[in-house]
Amino acid sequence: PPPFTAAPAAWASSKPPLLRFLNACHADFTPETGGAVADYIPELGKADPAHFGISLATLDGHVYEVGDTQVPFTIQSMSKPFVFALALDTLGAARVESVIGVEPSGDPFNSIRLNAENHPFNPMVNAGAIACSGLIYEAKGDAAFDYIRQALGRFAGRELDVDDAVYASESLTGDRNRAIGYLLRTNAVIKDNVAQVLEVYFRQCAILVTARDIAVMAATLANRGVNPVTGEQVLSAYAISRTLSVMTSSGMYDYAGEWIYRIGIPAKSGVGGGILAALPARLGLGSYSPKLDKHGNSVRGIKVCEALSSHYDLHML
Ligand code: DON
Repeated sequence: PPPFTAAPAAWASSKPPLLRFLNACHADFTPETGGAVADYIPELGKADPAHFGISLATLDGHVYEVGDTQVPFTIQSMSKPFVFALALDTLGAARVESVIGVEPSGDPFNSIRLNAENHPFNPMVNAGAIACSGLIYEAKGDAAFDYIRQALGRFAGRELDVDDAVYASESLTGDRNRAIGYLLRTNAVIKDNVAQVLEVYFRQCAILVTARDIAVMAATLANRGVNPVTGEQVLSAYAISRTLSVMTSSGMYDYAGEWIYRIGIPAKSGVGGGILAALPARLGLGSYSPKLDKHGNSVRGIKVCEALSSHYDLHML
């Protein structure tokens, strides 16, 4: 065989094209791109609007990172797909489906409207997510929150903490979600102890993650539940498949139709400023930029997903 020749020295400093693309997104989308930091949870209003991190994890476990990918922020609604998947595996699909629908609502995330059966439309809106937290509470009682925190940690590949200030801030001001909780109990979606279920939900929303964590969590969804960094099968392939399905139809709330039409990658946003996008069998993306549009979705996160989808032709349909 011919002798091995080392790569030219210049190659050592040249970045792979994907990293170059992510760097270009990071440079192009300035904070002036628009939106406003959420402040209906007062503590979230303290976020730095300049923070911007993009991370992409491939299914061979490589993680690309650009910008503020190590800055912790609260997971908020990006917890919802994982807790839904956990509920499917913990209580069984029949029990979960007996109280939560899988139809897009077309409503904002915090809508109090239920479907014709007086059940939440889907597990991605607050009503459905609170119902999922209720199911976990039903199965695990006071251990429910830690059960959720540990499961999310297996998706991220590390132990995750909680932002106590954000938790306390939401618990103090979360009457709309409490109202949804009581509406769910009167319709027998939540069995008892609404107050405790809401604390589980508020705590789960205050779990701290980074853009890198979100990329790895997304890649685990894209990889049928096997974390590509740790190799662990976190939840069943069945639960992951159903979770990606509801993310596809409802993950971006009343922007979900537009999203799947234009970008074509299952995704979930959080009012902390995160966006998680999981392209099955391909990749996971996590972005963090706290300024949100009117749907509660990160403005620069959407831009990154748009650019990624069109640049690499990743629309799945
Ligand atoms: O329940 C709430 O309002 C928040 N804890 C989560 C909402 C959220 O993240 C909506 N997503 N963009």
